Amino acid sequence: MKKCTCILIFFMFSTTLSNEILQFSSVKNYNGNGAVKKVFFQKMVTLFNPTIFIETGTLTGNNTCNAIGFFEEIHTIELGMLLYQKASERFKNIENITVYHGDSSEVLKQILPKMHGKILFWLDAHFSGGTTAGEGRNPLIDEIRAIKMNRINNAIILIDDIRGWEMSKIRDAILTINPEYIFCIFGDIAMAFPPEDNVALSPILKAFTISRFYGSENSNISLEMVLEAEKVISKASAYEKNAINEIPFPESGYYNLWKGLILLNEQQFEKAINKFNLAINNEFSYFNYYSNWRAPYLHWRAHWYLAQALYGAGNNYDAKNFLDQVIAQAPFFTQAQELLLLL
Ligand SMILES: C[S@@+](CC[C@H](N)C(=O)[O-])C[C@H]1O[C@@H](n2cnc3c(N)ncnc32)[C@H](O)[C@@H]1O
Repeated sequence: MKKCTCILIFFMFSTTLSNEILQFSSVKNYNGNGAVKKVFFQKMVTLFNPTIFIETGTLTGNNTCNAIGFFEEIHTIELGMLLYQKASERFKNIENITVYHGDSSEVLKQILPKMHGKILFWLDAHFSGGTTAGEGRNPLIDEIRAIKMNRINNAIILIDDIRGWEMSKIRDAILTINPEYIFCIFGDIAMAFPPEDNVALSPILKAFTISRFYGSENSNISLEMVLEAEKVISKASAYEKNAINEIPFPESGYYNLWKGLILLNEQQFEKAINKFNLAINNEFSYFNYYSNWRAPYLHWRAHWYLAQALYGAGNNYDAKNFLDQVIAQAPFFTQAQELLLLL
């Protein structure tokens, strides 16, 4: 059986075996300084009990600052010399914070052998414009290799800014560390943790993961599974909906698709049309400036959702056009034919 199928099957049935449920929530201050919220660190500590925090990509240290008080040790790595110097100055009086200068994957190789305790990784090192360093190279896969080389297979691994990534590449790298890892999509963050933590994924986290992986290499996710998962997303609770709506990145197809599904379910048809159009125009993803990767295709289900929103808004003419496109690509999909009969 392919690797990803195993993970999906595992997390489908893991709920009954586990004590705690990981719920989707807001992670970062997207409207403020972009740092991880303290409440999210609290949640990670409560669920997983890590004692060491390791961040790659310090920038100004706002994230590092919010981690204070939750961990026994905090380590943060920055490639940009000026950024490193400023962060070192900022944290010089805080005993349990160490700031390192250098390429994150190289620094990890040096420091990981000295770590004794459960680690929460926040992998966030990449060029981000302005005065940041690292243009032309994303160290993520090398960072994951460094974790593997040090045989650290019980850490909680959080990867920020995944919108531009081909997910199977990240998932496959993570599974080389520990093939049992539970891997999920948490909004714009990928998360992996070991099954021994006895934490299960909430329905919407499973749904994001299926929605994001459908059609990617070796995913083995059926059409029925993805449509069912996207139904779960469309019925997000008020709390989950707020967390989804906080994710910015209008250029990212998936987040527009998920926001559109919620609006469609709420019968806010005009707004849903706008989000589905954004999703379609961005091909469920956006061009990844790290790896030149672009989502390989635009799946017809986006047109199916758009047709439903157009029909709801009373625009039968455009709804029919999109239904025709859906039927041309998926003649077996009877729901589209049934809606066409109503127009
Ligand atoms: C998105 S920012 C980090 C944001 C920070 N974690 C926060 O939440 O406040 C990415 C940072 O990674 C740094 N960077 C880029 N490539 C790197 C590398 N190979 N090793 C370490 N840092 C790197 C950049 O200079 C930039 O400051």
